[in-house]
Amino acid sequence: MTRVLVTGVGGPAGVAVLRSLLKREDVDVFAADMDGWASGLYLVGADRRRIVPAGRSAGFVDHVIEQCRADGIDVLFSTVDVELPGLAVRRDDLLAVGTRLAAPSLVTLAVCLDKYLLAERCSASVTVPTTRLLNGEGRDHDWSFPVIVKPRSGAGSRGVRLVEDRAALEALGDDESNIIQEHLPGDEFSVDVLAGLDGSVIAAVPRSRERVDSGVSIAGRTVRRAELSDTAAAVARAIGLSGVANVQLRYSSSGVPALLEVNPRFPGAMPLTIASGVDMPSLLHDLVIGRDVPETVDFVELANVRFLEDVFLDPADVLVSENAAHSDGPGE
Ligand SMILES: Nc1ncnc2c1ncn2[C@@H]1O[C@H](COP(=O)(O)OP(=O)(O)O)[C@@H](O)[C@H]1O
Ligand SMILES: [Mg+2]
Repeated sequence: MTRVLVTGVGGPAGVAVLRSLLKREDVDVFAADMDGWASGLYLVGADRRRIVPAGRSAGFVDHVIEQCRADGIDVLFSTVDVELPGLAVRRDDLLAVGTRLAAPSLVTLAVCLDKYLLAERCSASVTVPTTRLLNGEGRDHDWSFPVIVKPRSGAGSRGVRLVEDRAALEALGDDESNIIQEHLPGDEFSVDVLAGLDGSVIAAVPRSRERVDSGVSIAGRTVRRAELSDTAAAVARAIGLSGVANVQLRYSSSGVPALLEVNPRFPGAMPLTIASGVDMPSLLHDLVIGRDVPETVDFVELANVRFLEDVFLDPADVLVSENAAHSDGPGE
């Protein structure tokens, strides 16, 4: 029996990881969130619910390490972007209390956090849209318009702009926290990738996002298309991925899948990938505890729609948290 803690269980990614691990009889699942109203808390028994500080707060990592020690946690799954770098920095401190962190390396996380670095890192391995910093030299490039301007470290499509012509680009001036990027006009796919601890790619499952709510795909389909899986696998190798990441691709004007970005964590749409045949949380659990998993795992094409589901509680059972969070949780 292994004991596992999943954080961010108020979001769809956290709930997906919880549901995957709760299916197993050899895993004892604990759930954590900063908010007592996080739905995933109520998928586990009352004695396995944990309130933690906000991922951004100074005390978060120390609190989680102490919680893992107290609960005898073997594997920690974090499903929240802002928690990941802080936890990855303290990977050895977690190990010292007996907890393995099921998350990519700090180096991988850092590359994914910066879309400029990511494009540079991957340009030798896959098709990457032309990408420059938003400065004089970047603007001077011989762009064909429209182009995309977006933050180097963005999320949830915030700050993504379509810039129609050179005059509009010049008007933006210098801001090196932004990049200018070739516009990719084609269809977009998200590819969920699982890589082993040695970096070998075990599965790459492309899916379309047909309907999106608050940044999370709520309807879509998995797609068996080798050029999508192969491109995402090449990206995973280029960034040294171990564990799970979500690679976003979009077709270029010449009809080639090109790299948009990598989210180095579980996506909210993970249930579709699991149902298609690749139970990434469960496989990653086994990898992390050193159990054998197949070298590659295949999948079938499947579509999904999603609806909200209610869990009814005795009001006295709702955990109290000081963190009055009303966020939508992690997007994708
Ligand atoms: N170069 C591009 N060409 C076309 N569309 C883009 C491009 N870059 C971003 N977009 C659009 O903006 C969305 C968000 O951009 P993305 O790079 O994924 O950043 P984030 O999701 O971190 O905000 C993409 O899903 C895509 O629809
Ligand atoms: Mg994105």
